[in-house]
Amino acid sequence: AQQRRTLIAGNWKMNGSLSANSALLGELSGASIASACEVLVCVPFVYIPQCEVFLAKTQIAFGAQDVSPHQSGAYTGEISPAMLADFSCKYAIVGHSERRAYHHESNELVAQKALQSLRSNIYPIVCVGETLEQREAGKTNEVVVAQLQAVMDVLDEGALARIVVAYEPVWAIGTGKTATPEMAQDVHAVLRKTLAVRSDFAAEKVRILYGGSMKPENAKELLAMPDIDGGLIGGASLKAVDFLSIVAAA
Ligand code: G3P
Repeated sequence: AQQRRTLIAGNWKMNGSLSANSALLGELSGASIASACEVLVCVPFVYIPQCEVFLAKTQIAFGAQDVSPHQSGAYTGEISPAMLADFSCKYAIVGHSERRAYHHESNELVAQKALQSLRSNIYPIVCVGETLEQREAGKTNEVVVAQLQAVMDVLDEGALARIVVAYEPVWAIGTGKTATPEMAQDVHAVLRKTLAVRSDFAAEKVRILYGGSMKPENAKELLAMPDIDGGLIGGASLKAVDFLSIVAAA
């Protein structure tokens, strides 16, 4: 929407193999993509070198699905932002609800991941979203604002303008249930207003993506909303035809 460049990002989650990826990446890179839209795939860490080779001369960017909040040192099993940057990786998802739920990631930890990513010029895609229980209790805005606020607390204005936010209602992820465009727009507007309290510049610049069962059939109407600047797509990003038709809808 507005002057922000639409971002259509796939989150493959823990899916793929060398051979399946080469087929998928081959189809994606062979397609003609309107340059108005930025296209991104976020892949498991081990496939980042494969993306670097495969996507080198294409318009498709790639990113990671998580990143360490530390730059180096005794953190067994972690991957630092600088390591991602070594492979021309551009983005890292931080605070996905699956990591918040299964790995107990706090708002503060997610904020550190965003901060450290930016120090290595990796753009963090900060995920926020409420559970069904929280929505039914009328706490949606409170929850997503607290999640975003923790990140805002550690970033200066320049850094804040470089993040991407993804609103992913937990009840819509992988369930086939999508927020209506109006429901999503309402939350996106709240998030943008929250950014604006701190910086009008950042509020104008930051792209806010919608995620949660986005698919070819509902992408157009979601992406038509004024504060929805793209999508973070799980299931439908694993099939080239589906992902490309979402890109075409953007
Ligand atoms: O990060 C994307 C995501 O959680 C949405 O997944 O499968 O509902 O599109 P899905």
